[in-house]
Amino acid sequence: MKKRVFLSATALAVTALATSPVFAQDNTFKIGLILPMTGQQASTGRQVEAGVRLYMAQNGDMVAGKKVELIVKDDTSQPDVTKRLAQELVVNDKVNVLAGFGITPSALATAPIATQSRTPEIVMAAATSSITEASPYIVRSSFTLPQVSVVLADWAPKHGIKTVDTLVSDYGPGIDAEKYFRERLIANGGKVTESLRVPLRSPDFAPFLQKVRDDHPDALFVFVPSGAGAALMKQFVSRGMDKAGIKLIATGDVTDDDQLNDMGDGALGVVTSHHYSAAHPSETNKQFVAAFEKANKGMRPNFMAVGGYDGTHLIYDALKKTQGQGGGEALVAAMKGESFESPRGPIRIDPQTRDIVQNVYLRKVERVNGQFYNVEFDVVKDVKDPGKAPK
Ligand code: DHB
Repeated sequence: MKKRVFLSATALAVTALATSPVFAQDNTFKIGLILPMTGQQASTGRQVEAGVRLYMAQNGDMVAGKKVELIVKDDTSQPDVTKRLAQELVVNDKVNVLAGFGITPSALATAPIATQSRTPEIVMAAATSSITEASPYIVRSSFTLPQVSVVLADWAPKHGIKTVDTLVSDYGPGIDAEKYFRERLIANGGKVTESLRVPLRSPDFAPFLQKVRDDHPDALFVFVPSGAGAALMKQFVSRGMDKAGIKLIATGDVTDDDQLNDMGDGALGVVTSHHYSAAHPSETNKQFVAAFEKANKGMRPNFMAVGGYDGTHLIYDALKKTQGQGGGEALVAAMKGESFESPRGPIRIDPQTRDIVQNVYLRKVERVNGQFYNVEFDVVKDVKDPGKAPK
């Protein structure tokens, strides 16, 4: 009697397993991609998704015997929505990896879910230094604001810029940019004369620019997130700041390749520091830009697209290294120390911090064949995130 009960229970368990989603998806590998597809940061979502899809189209969706499936969700850049979507993707869809994250608050809101469910969280866009410290499951394929800001603060005083006002969006990446630019400029003998912060949502730059005009520093240093640069640039020019002899210097988020052609002649000559330009003169990048434009009705890739493309590369490589058998921990372990040639140049994942190490370029906006580009004129190689305390 006892034996019969045991047997039927086993049979039941096997049937349950065969029909359960866990068994059915044994051969699939799901990437839950959470991005702002609508609202103020929609260009970030559009660019990252296109980068992910291009990598998948070029490399196929069968990797190490698994069929890679992409599930895209729009968080409208509201972190509470990001968190709910991440939870649903983990619990209901049983995704193997969470990815995307257009802004810092969205990446941070997901960190506890990544930790609790042991799911890798690949941050493809957000760029506050501290993000990778929020969970041991976070790996970053974008960049950090300290990484690019210190390079500009080294360049400026060597080029006649001694006094600088800073203007940043008032949240994580802006505060990082302000702090690391300022500290490095002061160490180099320069001076920050005013530190201004504008709201992330619908900023009105006018009163801040008026203040800068009155201060009359040698330059204004700016960070605003991808998508907000054109408005800043237009107001800077329409207020006659450049004519008054105040130079605009910025992180490359401001002269975003997604918007650069719409910024007007006032953008010409603006010097920025960043990790990616669509004009990066490598063969890998030329092929990337051509393929991206072809797949996206002529849209030019920006740094967000490259974050999505390289983040997908990291996921594919980890899947291969673990021969399709890896859970979250094994996938993250496989990503540590990973290195390859990106459209931006050589990149690697620091095994200690899970953050990206990459070249940072100095660029100047120039007209090339009738279009505006960030033309690279100098490079600092293999820059680690200066925001991480040495361990
Ligand atoms: C972040 C968002 C951006 O659009 C950007 O260009 C840099 C940083 C962020 O929220 O982390």
